[in-house]
Amino acid sequence: VETLRIRHLLASDYDVIAPVVDAWWGGRPVRQLLQRLFFEHFTPTSFFVGSTDSVEAFLIGFRSQSIPHVGYIHFVGVRPDLRGRGLARALYQRFFDVVQPLGATEVQCITSPANVNSIAFHRHMGFELLPGDGELDGFPVVLNHAGEGQPRVVFRKDLALEKTL
Ligand SMILES: CC(C)(COP(=O)(O)OP(=O)(O)OC[C@H]1O[C@@H](n2cnc3c(N)ncnc32)[C@H](O)[C@@H]1OP(=O)(O)O)[C@@H](O)C(=O)NCCC(=O)NCCS
Repeated sequence: VETLRIRHLLASDYDVIAPVVDAWWGGRPVRQLLQRLFFEHFTPTSFFVGSTDSVEAFLIGFRSQSIPHVGYIHFVGVRPDLRGRGLARALYQRFFDVVQPLGATEVQCITSPANVNSIAFHRHMGFELLPGDGELDGFPVVLNHAGEGQPRVVFRKDLALEKTL
């Protein structure tokens, strides 16, 4: 049912999504990671659920320009009161379905080790945590991934075993 409501991202969605992301991320300032260019230049591989003036969930992703067999998910967010209903799973599935014909055989993404919900979600979705150069709270991390003292967990999922619709 949810998959039917998913549409491609539009440039005009920027004004709807940008104001809500800091609150959706629990007050973490992530808005500057959500740049307008994604809404202008990554729409074939980015998705939206909601109405013209209100967002329920979104995913921003792309096929790697440097490594053609990699799909990269930059951002996924679900409105807090709509979590746990399969919306993010449906958005990920849609992304897998569009990047596989583009040549992607795996999907990568990153998250902050403090974001335990994101780590739990990605594990449920079949992502593995790649080894890095350190460990935090029991998770492998790349220690200075996002700058000095800014560690990130790096995820990878092999699409070869993923069923195609
Ligand atoms: C992470 C997030 C996108 C998950 O969205 P969601 O719509 O609630 O996830 P879904 O309902 O599609 O869950 C998919 C699977 O992950 C599991 N899952 C999701 N969140 C989980 C959590 N916090 N703990 C354990 N499992 C979780 C679900 O149980 C489900 O498993 P199943 O399909 O095997 O039953 C959402 O919590 C969110 O927007 N968080 C804030 C933004 C963020 O941190 N984004 C990720 C980093 S970019």
